[in-house]
Amino acid sequence: MTKIKLFDPSINKLEEKSIVNVLKSHFWASGAGTNYVQKFEKQFQKFVNSDNTVAVNSGTAALHLALSLFNLSNKEVILPSLSFVSTAHAVILNQAKPVFVDVDPSTLCIDPEKIKSLISKKTEAILPVHFGGFPCNLDAISKICIDNNIPLVEDAAHAAGASYKNNKIGTHGKFVCFSFHPVKNLSMPSGGLISINGTNHKNFKKILNSRRWCGITNRIGSEYDVKELGWNYYMNEFSAVLGLVQLDKLDKMNKKRKLIAKKYFTKINLEEKMPFNTECSYHLYWILVKNRTKFRKNLHDVGIETGIHYKPIHLMSMYKNNRKLPITEKISKQIVSIPIHPNLTNSQTNKIINAINKYS
Ligand SMILES: Cc1ncc(COP(=O)(O)O)c(C=O)c1O
Repeated sequence: MTKIKLFDPSINKLEEKSIVNVLKSHFWASGAGTNYVQKFEKQFQKFVNSDNTVAVNSGTAALHLALSLFNLSNKEVILPSLSFVSTAHAVILNQAKPVFVDVDPSTLCIDPEKIKSLISKKTEAILPVHFGGFPCNLDAISKICIDNNIPLVEDAAHAAGASYKNNKIGTHGKFVCFSFHPVKNLSMPSGGLISINGTNHKNFKKILNSRRWCGITNRIGSEYDVKELGWNYYMNEFSAVLGLVQLDKLDKMNKKRKLIAKKYFTKINLEEKMPFNTECSYHLYWILVKNRTKFRKNLHDVGIETGIHYKPIHLMSMYKNNRKLPITEKISKQIVSIPIHPNLTNSQTNKIINAINKYS
């Protein structure tokens, strides 16, 4: 029995060829020789239609660096708890306090109404996650940001190619952070990117370029200076060249994800499941089931891999606090991610739907 994988990068001869080309070029580091990193930044900027972009080596690095542009020491950042831990780690790495907010049960994205009651004098940023690639209510969240004069920094790790009101995710928030982890919609061995918007974008890019490479600035030939601390967060040429090939077919790959999502939405006999929205990139497709352990075992036994996204961050030992998030906590006990990726065949998605309808 061939197992149906939960995630699977979509690759073909073009990815193979481009990797071998970089390998043989002997220029593997960022900006060396072939300059695929810069090409990828330019292409992605064009794709999302933002003011600027900075490529880095992970989504975690993108979040860390984007938030480093604000003076967050002892300040607060509002974010959902239903996310990968990196979202909150990026806040802590910038000496700020994460303030977790509950989600809207129909989309699992941050609930704008609940954000309002958490705004304090210490709030310095709002960090929503486009959960599973489903676009958050950016109009409502942007309004809160404008009213309180704080920046909108988006975690778009799941949302490469998603859009909001016909504009690609990446063009709304001041800083929008993407992940290109192998399981993401645009796959690299590891990678991330910050999309920048606003009048000061050139200056922010300059600062971020330096921070992603050990604080190095003013490089002319072998001469350079270091004025502040930075990290080793630059993207390498292998990731960038793969990114260019993947970017070319991202809309096509997401279209396939959407077709599968539509089929799941109409044929899975469960009340609580991810809604269908043509603007979603469907990095994940989630369903809520009652007896999750037994359900997952049944699917595993018929060769279907499933996952849990996520155990809420505020329940992890490091982040434990007393604030209750009733919706997040209820959902996290029932949520199951089912396979959704461009490599799935019709007969595989039929098998998945039949198994879910039988065992849920
Ligand atoms: C919502 C979310 N944010 C941030 C990240 C971090 O991205 P990366 O794994 O590329 O560091 C991930 C990746 O798993 C994620 O799912």
